[in-house]
Amino acid sequence: MTIHEIRAKYLKFFKERGHAILPSAPLIPDNDPSTLFTGSGMQPMVPYLLGETHPMGVRLADSQKCFRSQDIEEVGDNRHTTFFEMLGNWSLGDYFKQEQLSWIFEFLTKELNLDPHKLYVSVYRGNAFIDKDIESATIWKTIFSGVDIEARDIDFSERDGMQDGRIFYYNDSKNWWSRSGIPEKMPIGEPGGPDSELFWDFGEDLGFHEVSQWKDQLCHVNCDCGRFLEIGNSVFMEYRKTEDGFESLPQKNVDFGGGLMRLAAAVNGDPDIFTVDAYDPMRRMLESRTTRAYGSSPEVTRSMRVILDHLCAATFLIGDDVFPSNKDQGYFVRRLIRRAVRFGKKLGIEESFIGEIGSLYISDYGEVYEDLVHKKEQIIAQLLLEEGKFSKTLKKGEIEFEKMFKTKGMISGEDAFVLYSTYGFPIELSEEMAQEHGQNVDKIVFQEEFKKHQDTSRAGSVQKFSGGLADHSDATVRLHTATHMLHQALRTVLGEHVEQKGSNITPERLRFDFSHPEKMTLEQMQAVEDLINTNIQLDLSVHFELLTLDQAKQRGAIGLFEDKYAQLGEQIKVYFIGDEAAGGSYSKEVCGGPHVERTGILGHFKILKEESASSGVRRIKAKLD
Ligand code: ALA
Repeated sequence: MTIHEIRAKYLKFFKERGHAILPSAPLIPDNDPSTLFTGSGMQPMVPYLLGETHPMGVRLADSQKCFRSQDIEEVGDNRHTTFFEMLGNWSLGDYFKQEQLSWIFEFLTKELNLDPHKLYVSVYRGNAFIDKDIESATIWKTIFSGVDIEARDIDFSERDGMQDGRIFYYNDSKNWWSRSGIPEKMPIGEPGGPDSELFWDFGEDLGFHEVSQWKDQLCHVNCDCGRFLEIGNSVFMEYRKTEDGFESLPQKNVDFGGGLMRLAAAVNGDPDIFTVDAYDPMRRMLESRTTRAYGSSPEVTRSMRVILDHLCAATFLIGDDVFPSNKDQGYFVRRLIRRAVRFGKKLGIEESFIGEIGSLYISDYGEVYEDLVHKKEQIIAQLLLEEGKFSKTLKKGEIEFEKMFKTKGMISGEDAFVLYSTYGFPIELSEEMAQEHGQNVDKIVFQEEFKKHQDTSRAGSVQKFSGGLADHSDATVRLHTATHMLHQALRTVLGEHVEQKGSNITPERLRFDFSHPEKMTLEQMQAVEDLINTNIQLDLSVHFELLTLDQAKQRGAIGLFEDKYAQLGEQIKVYFIGDEAAGGSYSKEVCGGPHVERTGILGHFKILKEESASSGVRRIKAKLD
């Protein structure tokens, strides 16, 4: 079964069970400054899990593009990737444990024909506030007995081994899910809950144990020896963090996520996800370019896996308009491409190959992600540009290396760091070149320098991305409403060509990118501020209505730039600022919310900065006093 078949089967299965099928949200979350990338299917659902009405109903399903930047260094084994698709289904206060666990079991065993004897599950062991999830364990027992499997539940398999069990209890670190991880790490207000994971047993005889760090320990489904692979997770999202524990959310939700590639690996019976069909053409291309077979040596396999993952991620990220750069999300695209070039070099590829692989991904995924096809030229151009820039960097680095070496007769760890931080010259290449001169680079010193640098930049990014709309703090919600007012004011003052190009809101300030060809004049900025402040003083009411796309267009709503829901002919949420009956609305915009109820509480609006964001796009930073 191809991943496209598995995806289609999953969406059909949940559609037949009353779910609305949503398109994937972009990899860059809208209005969520708490995170750089969409890393799980539930991220775009947070407002609805917290109780907002979703325009498409209470049963939703999708296949969501995800990128996890923290996994970059881990790529190279048989199951880690930075980019993946997560199949997801949600119940927003509708069905709960019974339906979810039965359906997902039915999907795996009937639709994907997975052998139930090779499926194992975990459930929550409980903590000081939240009970052990006996309910899920009981449901699982009944489900398994329906296929003649007696499912024993085991309390401490991580200590005592599998003991012929089928259902295993784990604590917060394994069977609790929230965006921030374990309960202690959750900020106040964050939703989370116990979960039940599904594991596929690839069997004992795959040779993993021989190389695994776990080989002398008792195996259990979460031991990570390679035998068991997590293929799905049903989160029972019914709690929210408080000052001193947890409270129940207004509704009991289900949040299911399953990695598409991992499911395909289980269906194929091959634990190496890089042998899944979606990677075939690119893997074959690498084999023919290098005349080396995938799997011929650990080094070749690892290098090919890094290239396969990184270029898939880079293709999708550029497809979502993230271009290689030195900051924010663009930095990761740059890193992905550069790492791919380096691993290509390791395999002996000297000629350009990045564009060709990107193009193969576009053909492979184009039918499902049409944007990739529309943006093909942009994607290939960016890939080639970055590959070219990096090749120049490497040449420049080599020249600087030789210069340094000539004057000093050696390259210290600090020198290697200077080459890395100033010219982007990778440490591995400094090491290789030093070896050509019969010397070594002090890698410990390099790493110390590197760590110093990382600590400083991490401190910066934590500050920048803390709080925000994701936690729905008052300050952020107020700035969100102000953003709508700004959008409308810019259209009034500058013209209807103004369209939103990006938005990022923290409790301290809003940042709004919009199309406009030139710098704004002081008068224009003053006019925008005045208009907004007048409408704040008028204390306009804010409300939303559920409309079809046609109705929204007729009523003059803006923000239809992503015709996402359009194809679905379903209702969308439109926020109105000001009462239409009483003299016309000031702003009408498609948006998921949340917003304040009246503009009067916004205070005083002030523009802090107006600058260029990119060609033809201006950026405003503003605050409320
Ligand atoms: N949100 C859950 C996860 O990412 C389903 O595992």
